[in-house]
Amino acid sequence: AQSTLAPTPPMGWNSWNHFYQHVTDADVRAAADAMVSNGMRDAGYVYVNIDDGWQGSRLPDGTIQSNSRFPDMRALADYVHARGMKLGIYSSPGARTCAKFEGSLGHEQQDARTYAAWGIDYLKYDLCSYGDVLRAAGKGDVAAAFPLQKEAYRKMHDALVATGRPIVFSLCQYGMNSVWEWGPEVGGTLWRTTGDISDSYDRMSLIGFQQAGLSRYARPGQWNDPDMLEVGNGGMTFDEYKTHMSLWAMLAAPLLAGNDLSKVKPEDLAILENKDAIAIDQDPLGKQGDRFSAVGPYEIWRKPLAHGRQAIALFNRGELAHTMQVPLHDLQVPMHAHVRDVWAGKDLIASENYSVSVPKHGVVLLLVAP
Ligand code: DGJ
Repeated sequence: AQSTLAPTPPMGWNSWNHFYQHVTDADVRAAADAMVSNGMRDAGYVYVNIDDGWQGSRLPDGTIQSNSRFPDMRALADYVHARGMKLGIYSSPGARTCAKFEGSLGHEQQDARTYAAWGIDYLKYDLCSYGDVLRAAGKGDVAAAFPLQKEAYRKMHDALVATGRPIVFSLCQYGMNSVWEWGPEVGGTLWRTTGDISDSYDRMSLIGFQQAGLSRYARPGQWNDPDMLEVGNGGMTFDEYKTHMSLWAMLAAPLLAGNDLSKVKPEDLAILENKDAIAIDQDPLGKQGDRFSAVGPYEIWRKPLAHGRQAIALFNRGELAHTMQVPLHDLQVPMHAHVRDVWAGKDLIASENYSVSVPKHGVVLLLVAP
């Protein structure tokens, strides 16, 4: 039943990349309000996800409470729901989260029931201090305790299911033990395939291009997660953020904005709300794209789409602008096919010797209809 939760990759916002553990109820409400007024909600960004930092202490009976920055979680959920969006939360199978807040170890059922009672729709479950449990069990070797790792995730999944409330289950364990092979078994809706992203082209591109080869593990309800978006956080150029958005769309990755939406710049919003890029990510066929070719720093990626369409991305990972040939024949693009250059916003007809100029660290993203 949980696999019907995300027929296409989840879209929304998450507090971590900008607010870290200092996020407040007011920040989350401001994000939700911004998403309504700036069009993001209507573009598909419906999850408003609180990451690490909301947790308080437990009551004597073990019930988890939010801390003083989140005075009333149920009211916050109502606020988000009233705006047609969904609320996400965060915990860890360990005793402590990565930012040293209370984790769910030994309280899985109880926490799942609390989340359901609050009206939570999404849980990111982050390994954190459970790594210590694994290291101890594997006598220092985390991989040796692999069955325990799976068990920890399965336990929370079963607890979520038992609540009867549909809750997206996001596994966060940084791609350890080839999680794409066992994520579905433990009920994951999506699973992190990498360590943390940061707001730099080097880190974003390293993570993104490393996803080559993982396409066969994704399908509706089961998504690879190369981590959240950094668009708008200021550490990359406009071209680099377009590369970020394009690559994530080609990867059928979750699109979770990670910037301060109360201060979003129009050019960053234009990237996040580009209709064609979103349509590529959210295509109903649910197939992840993959690398088609790489010659030095010049890469072509391809993603099959519904109705015989496909997306083609030409990436220039080099340090200078470069003209790239579009190998129409090899890509099975018929001559005279309809091609939309997504970021240029231009439509054209495929013809021989089709080439495009791709800026340094940039992309040309094409949407091709037969
Ligand atoms: C590590 C995760 O990978 C991040 O996305 C974030 O959730 C932090 N932990 C929170 O402590």
